[in-house]
Amino acid sequence: MSVHPLDTLVPKPRLLSARSGELTLRSPVGVAAAGDAEAVADLLRAELSRSTALRFESAPPETAQIVLQVERANDEQYRLAVDPRRATLSGSAVGLVHAFYTLRQLLPTANWRSAPLPGVTWTLPACLIEDQPRFGWRGCMLDVARHFVPKQTILRFIDLLAMHHFNRLHLHLSDDQGWRVEIKAFPRLATVASHRKQTGLGFATSAADPHDGTPHGGYYTQEDLREIVAYAGARAILVIPEIDLPGHSRALTAAYPEFGCFPDKKVEVSTYFGVSSDLVNPLPRTVAALKRILEELLAIFPSPWIHLGGDEAPLDPWRNSPEIQAHLASLGLENVQALRSWFTAQLSTFLSERGRRLIGWDEIIHYGGLPPESTVMSWRGEKGGMKAAAAGYDVVMAPVFPTYLDYAQDDGCDEPLSIGQSVLLEDLYAYDPAARWPDSSTFPQVLGVQCQLWSEVILDSAHLEYMAFPRACALAEVGWSADCDDFGAFRVRLAQHLQRLQAYGVNYRPLEGPQPWQRGGTGRKAYQPRFNLKEALAHIDAWAESGEPPAEHLSG
Ligand code: ACM
Repeated sequence: MSVHPLDTLVPKPRLLSARSGELTLRSPVGVAAAGDAEAVADLLRAELSRSTALRFESAPPETAQIVLQVERANDEQYRLAVDPRRATLSGSAVGLVHAFYTLRQLLPTANWRSAPLPGVTWTLPACLIEDQPRFGWRGCMLDVARHFVPKQTILRFIDLLAMHHFNRLHLHLSDDQGWRVEIKAFPRLATVASHRKQTGLGFATSAADPHDGTPHGGYYTQEDLREIVAYAGARAILVIPEIDLPGHSRALTAAYPEFGCFPDKKVEVSTYFGVSSDLVNPLPRTVAALKRILEELLAIFPSPWIHLGGDEAPLDPWRNSPEIQAHLASLGLENVQALRSWFTAQLSTFLSERGRRLIGWDEIIHYGGLPPESTVMSWRGEKGGMKAAAAGYDVVMAPVFPTYLDYAQDDGCDEPLSIGQSVLLEDLYAYDPAARWPDSSTFPQVLGVQCQLWSEVILDSAHLEYMAFPRACALAEVGWSADCDDFGAFRVRLAQHLQRLQAYGVNYRPLEGPQPWQRGGTGRKAYQPRFNLKEALAHIDAWAESGEPPAEHLSG
């Protein structure tokens, strides 16, 4: 039985109605676009001429088969009207991008291929769609630090995000295991901090654990990152860079020991995972260097938000360093918590003065030093977000459960390597940040939702796609659709949508479970969930009351 294309859209549009008839696109397809719509017409031509072999030509609106109209101010709302003569897309320049991706979902699935196949008729069902997102932040975080993600994989991932109307790509560019962005003022970040000798197997937490003996690394040049920003921008996706500070900084301190807490201690880029005590120091020389790094970062990334991490930073190295204690005393501060606030304020003021906003993981609200325009990303459950909103900050909801896609998709031991068990597709789909929100007056400060692809145990591009899809499809709908279906109805719609991912060659997990070749087996990708999700949640829930991770959290 054939399914009407309108019943296959993911995420589900706000209002949609079928009309009678259909529109068949035939070469030459006339496209009318003026002003800001021209860039979207370029995108449409580039994407669809590759997969359909249709020829697209500029045409006046009266005769065009596809009309792009800029109608609104800069919001994400759009209207898509298809009748047997033409498809009319209207909205802001950004809304038009969303209209285009909905139009692509209405076309035959073959339009997600990279070359035309014979025998496809390019019909669109007549319909009217009026759509707008529930949340303005629909994000996905890629951890490109633990395992380097090749540039081509990021570009393809941007296509996949755009297909689902995501609008934020958060790149976690630095961690203990690698620094991934070229900084011209500090060349050792590219030559030293960007790679490690080998990688611990599974979620190894010490040098004594078994390792793979294979060097790993890579970094993006500034030109690579400008390309990524522009490619994402053309698809209405903003790229938010993250440099994680003051913790998760071992790669940085391996390249420049003078920015670490004990400059005489020789450290190497970490080969294992967990929370390390290799923080940067908060001394003037380091703050000045970090500002130079940020200066270069701001020139690459136009994003209003700059992510400065802030998670999992045990402050004992600051307590134990005589040089840092002397600095603390010279500032007249009482303790390292106050020094952490001072450190954050140095960098957040630097950003504010340049018209940018600090965003950070929810630990940052325990210390202060945050300008009022700061945004808090709630990862340790939802409490951090609630607290931050009550204090007047904007919030992005990114709680471990259910938005961490490095947890297994199921409890079965057929799954490949993951960090823990399990965040089900259904858990993602059931997520509603409003459900437990204590005070509706602060809910408007929730900008939206984001899923996280931490990559300690996501080893390659195929593994990344497997962990992301189809769970990211569910989060896309949570972020976009004001009125989600029940899970059963979503699953039926998703089964159709997966044919698009199939045509696009995505290594998604089938709804029935992994393909034989996607299973973990007994080798490098063997299913070995390290964390029990329930225990992990209880642990972070208790910890969410303070900023520093408990001592037992330390690795190494
Ligand atoms: C985090 O998962 N440490 C933000």
